[in-house]
Amino acid sequence: MIEIDHVTKRFADYVAVADADFSIASGEFFSMLGPSGCGKTTTLRMIAGFESPTEGAIRLEGVDVSRVPPHKRNVNTVFQHYALFPHMTVWDNVAYGPRSAKKDKAEIKRSVDELLDIVRLTDFAKRKPGQLSGGQQQRVALARALVNYPSALLLDEPLGALDLKLRHAMQFELKRIQREVGITFIY
Ligand SMILES: Nc1ncnc2c1ncn2[C@@H]1O[C@H](COP(=O)(O)OP(=O)(O)OP(=O)(O)O)[C@@H](O)[C@H]1O
Ligand SMILES: [Mg+2]
Repeated sequence: MIEIDHVTKRFADYVAVADADFSIASGEFFSMLGPSGCGKTTTLRMIAGFESPTEGAIRLEGVDVSRVPPHKRNVNTVFQHYALFPHMTVWDNVAYGPRSAKKDKAEIKRSVDELLDIVRLTDFAKRKPGQLSGGQQQRVALARALVNYPSALLLDEPLGALDLKLRHAMQFELKRIQREVGITFIY
């Protein structure tokens, strides 16, 4: 589903990613591990479209997207510092994307309710982000990223802001959510 074909990324003469060459199957929970500075974030940013490869190609579902902007790629990203809208309720935060895309009202309600159920926040739908714990806020960010059913979700250390215990709990939650929605996760 995602092919990283001999990708090198240089910033001026600094090589941030050197000849990355791998592919990720549909529905896979794919993790990139490596020391700080080895190029994980840069690789995610190239898959998402925020950077383009200096050499090589990135293909999503067989199509070369190396020069396609982020909003035209069917992938979504949750960054370590997820920005929720503080003045909006949990429900409105999740509904923001589909509303901007002018989706049908009934369809928006169905998908937002479904995602809130999956991340187990149905009872928190009317709260604002400031009234939630860190892990709950993280799950809102996940629901928001998944509500348009992207073909892949990119997660850049999304649990980095959480304490160790919560991070472990959320790792299991992420696996469960990924199984339920059947979307490719890259972590
Ligand atoms: N815009 C940029 N300009 C110049 N160098 C950059 C830029 N972005 C990243 N780099 C460099 O590229 C290398 C890879 O960075 P990247 O953020 O991909 O690492 P990482 O594997 O995500 O590290 P960490 O685990 O610390 O998040 C680093 O040495 C970084 O300093
Ligand atoms: Mg990083």
